[in-house]
This record gives sequence, C-alpha cells and structure tokens, in this order.
Amino acid sequence: MFNKSTACNIFSQKVLHWYSHHKRDLPWRKTDINPYHVVVSEFMLQQTQVPRVMEKFREFTEKFPTIHDLAKTSKADIIQAWSGLGYNRRALLLHKFAQVICEKYEGNIPGTAEELITLPGIGPYTAGSIASFAFNKPEPAIDVNVRRILYRFFAGKDQGLPGSKQEEEKWYNVVKKTIPNNRSRDLHNALMDFGSLVCLRKNPLCSACPLADSCQFFPLYETKKEKVLFVMEKKVEQGVMENGKHIPNRIFRGRIVEFVRKNEMKEVGIEELGKEIKKDYTTNEEEWLLMLCARLKEEGFLEYSKKKNKIKLTLAN
Ligand code: ADE
Repeated sequence: MFNKSTACNIFSQKVLHWYSHHKRDLPWRKTDINPYHVVVSEFMLQQTQVPRVMEKFREFTEKFPTIHDLAKTSKADIIQAWSGLGYNRRALLLHKFAQVICEKYEGNIPGTAEELITLPGIGPYTAGSIASFAFNKPEPAIDVNVRRILYRFFAGKDQGLPGSKQEEEKWYNVVKKTIPNNRSRDLHNALMDFGSLVCLRKNPLCSACPLADSCQFFPLYETKKEKVLFVMEKKVEQGVMENGKHIPNRIFRGRIVEFVRKNEMKEVGIEELGKEIKKDYTTNEEEWLLMLCARLKEEGFLEYSKKKNKIKLTLAN
C-alpha cells in the first residue's frame, strides 16, 4: 500500500541526496544570508529562465547594492536596469516592495510567509520562497516545476498549473511534511534543480532518476510514454498577428519600453514608432498602438504626450 508519510520521507531523502551531488552554482545561493539578494533573484526568476537571470542579477545588485539603494532610485532607473528581463511590471513591483520595506520595516525584510504575502508583488509562491531561501523557514514554495514533481511522484499525474484551492492546500501540506528539520532551504534548492535537470516537463529523464522506484508516474510513463505526458495548457494571451503569427500584446509592450529605454525624450512619428515595434505595422493599427502606450502610462511605466502625428515618450519618474 502507498503510504504518504513514508513516501514524503523517501522523497525528501532521495531528492536531497541527489542534490548533494548535483547542485547548481547560482549567484544568489552564495548569498543566502542576504535576504535582499534572495528577493531580487525571486522577482527576476518569476517567468524568466535561470541563465538570463544569472547575467542580470550581478549587474542589478552591483547597481543597487542594498534595499535602500533600490528604494530611493527613480522608476526610470529601475526600468532601465530591468532591460533584457521582460515582464517590466515586476520591476515596478520590486521597487514598491523595496519602498514599503524601507518605510515600514526599517529596511528589514520580514521572515514569515504570512507577513511577506501582504507586500507588493508577493504571491503564495514568492512568500514561501523568500521565507525558505532567505530564512530557512519550513514554508512550502510551490511553483510550476515543484508542482510538476509533486503530482508525478505522489499522484502519478502530469500537471504543472495550479489545481483547485483544496488541491493546492493538499500539496502545501505534503511539502510541509517533506521538509526535514532545518533543511527547508536545501530541499527547495534541490527541487528547483531536480525540476530543471531531471524531472523535465518534456522528455523527463526517468531512466536516470533516483526517485523512479518510488515514483507513481514512472511506470505509467515507461509503458505509455507520450499519452501520459501532459501538454501545458497555455492561456491564449491578448495580442495581434505579426507576419502571420499571433504575438501577445505583452511582447509589443516590452518592445515599446525597450524603444523608450534607448530613445529617451525623443519625439517620434506614431508610424515610425509602430514600425519600430511591429514588423508589419500599418497605419490601421494606430488605435491599437496608442492603446498600448496609454496602458503603459496608466500603469506607471511611461509618460507620453501626443501632438498630431508625433508622440514623445519618456520613462516614468
Ligand atoms: N526559480 C525560482 N527560484 C529559484 C531558485 N532560487 N533557484 C533556481 N530556480 C529558481
């Protein structure tokens, strides 16, 4: 019979053993006692891959060595420094987070998920990850990769997106039980690495997996292979066609901010801006383009003024 409590122990022991031989050398792990560095890395790692974050993390923390430096910088500076990471909204949320920490917590990042979750830019995953990576608190941090490992190992299912509230609570309790005393940081690092190197979304390396003999997914995968491998449901994001391909508005928004990063204060023709950010732009799309600029202004990224066919864009201050 499958015993969940025993399975939890086997799971954490095996993952930790694997980790002791395969851990990745990541810059924010060298600084695990610097909660500010953990926060920066976690904001950057939301939706951006590790190799890209590795480059930017060093540059960013050299530019803003402390949370106080970050809090007192201008929005424009932080948007500039975020260049290349995408999802610029995270830059503004990180900025707000830093300001709240400096104004209300005297620059000290709180160590519990309960307090962290009340702060700007922090959802359940990030609250758990900061508590765990920065303070070694036994707080589960379940992202898409960790969830995939849990579903596979304990339930023989292939799923990465959040399930119902009850299911999420169930996985939270499972992880809580698997965290050995004083090893929350290690276990979470181990899960991150295991999800990136072995329990891959596509083509998991089951035959080389040290957990295979206790994993509920392994026999299913071995016998039926592609039928059980899940296809991540992707939300269709709002967007438009570019050269015959659907491109989310998020990408065009990023291109506008990138254009402004490089051409601050310059007045440009609306058509010129359109052609800069969309390969097959036509003047019929002006309304869409201005809508994107207006949203970026509303959300605090840009300032803009429009005169006839020209537009002047600057990063927000
Ligand atoms: N993804 C999110 N947080 C991470 C971390 N600390 N290490 C590696 N990948 C991550």
